[in-house]
Amino acid sequence: MKKFPDGFYWGAASASYQVEGGIENTDWAKAARDGRVPECGRACEHYTRYEADFDIAKSLGHNAHRFSVEWARIEPEAGQFDMAAIAHYRQVLEALHARGLTPFITLWHFTLPLWFSESGGFERKDAPEIFARYCAFVVKELGDLCGHFSTINEPSVYGSNGWLRGSWPPFKRFSLTDLVAITNSGRSYESRADKSASNLFLWWRVMKNLAKSHNAAYLAIKKVRPNADVNFVHHVIVFDANKNPFRKLAAYIANQSWTHLFMRRTAGHYDTIGLNYYFYTQFGDKRKWRKTDMDWNFAPEKIYDALMILKRYKRPIVICEAGVADADDSDRAEYIEKQVRATWQAIQDGVDVRGHIYWSLLDNYEWALGFEKRFGLVEINYETMERTIRPSAYVYKKICEQNGMLE
Ligand code: BGC
Repeated sequence: MKKFPDGFYWGAASASYQVEGGIENTDWAKAARDGRVPECGRACEHYTRYEADFDIAKSLGHNAHRFSVEWARIEPEAGQFDMAAIAHYRQVLEALHARGLTPFITLWHFTLPLWFSESGGFERKDAPEIFARYCAFVVKELGDLCGHFSTINEPSVYGSNGWLRGSWPPFKRFSLTDLVAITNSGRSYESRADKSASNLFLWWRVMKNLAKSHNAAYLAIKKVRPNADVNFVHHVIVFDANKNPFRKLAAYIANQSWTHLFMRRTAGHYDTIGLNYYFYTQFGDKRKWRKTDMDWNFAPEKIYDALMILKRYKRPIVICEAGVADADDSDRAEYIEKQVRATWQAIQDGVDVRGHIYWSLLDNYEWALGFEKRFGLVEINYETMERTIRPSAYVYKKICEQNGMLE
């Protein structure tokens, strides 16, 4: 039996803009109105259906749930906080507790309130203070019902999609990005980017500002809730290389700039580490990889390498996202089993992993790719909003309930 440590967190994740529906005052909603990304609209109507969705999570053996709160709902105008939005998220937290699901809150998952994005967003010099004020407010208001907070979701993805590829707001593209693109997915949307609107210096400045924003938020949160567990969620791409020394050097540089730089810039400002894992890529790789629906290499077992990459930071790690887009559910069970097995192996090899949170509980709005890609344990019929549990969700359920796998 591959047993996991007692108290291990098992669950699934979501993010507000991708599932809630009815959010119109963000940069993404505006980009949709401008025809640059698909409409999100009602999404999964999770804003009103969350209780039934949590019933499903509970019935699937989960004991934890990661979700994000929507900054634009909570702070619709600069410095003005909406207590009705806070009341809503308090009810969400109560609903999780009533079902025995430990909450993990992400304070910001990609979408910005319009007042902030229109005035420069994370290019603003004072972004760290603005972000810290928001984070501290939410943790003060919700921290009695939740002990785990992530400030930023995936800074490296946010920075590169916004300021290198230009596939996401603010759509600023650095023209040389074509040379280093590692996947084809989303290419069609990149053509809508403002070409040459970015450069390496601007991207670098934004990345630095994101790290400063996290650090400021960490300190502000600790002032109001010293005992809260605070981290950010890092998307780790495993860059690997064949034996060629130049490719090895390229992989080293890629891992440094994608993963380690941000860890260094935030040193001393995280209690745990959130890991999101989706990609493995090998420079000089001649293998023909089986692909997921996202056109990403099917490499769930390489989550082991992602965990090893973070091991040196000597903090407990929670896997906050890992999963597969698989519309017909033919590969998801295998994917989950392989990634859970690899996680178990990493624990045997000394990594302190505390939880495994699958992406995602529900099918949802996959950003610039709209609703076509399906990551959910639960299928959504976007016409009727009907929820259907996929067969693979039961395979995961068994793992959650047994706190491990038989082999
Ligand atoms: C993001 C999610 C997204 C998922 C699948 C992660 O980068 O945090 O919002 O849906 O990957 O692409």
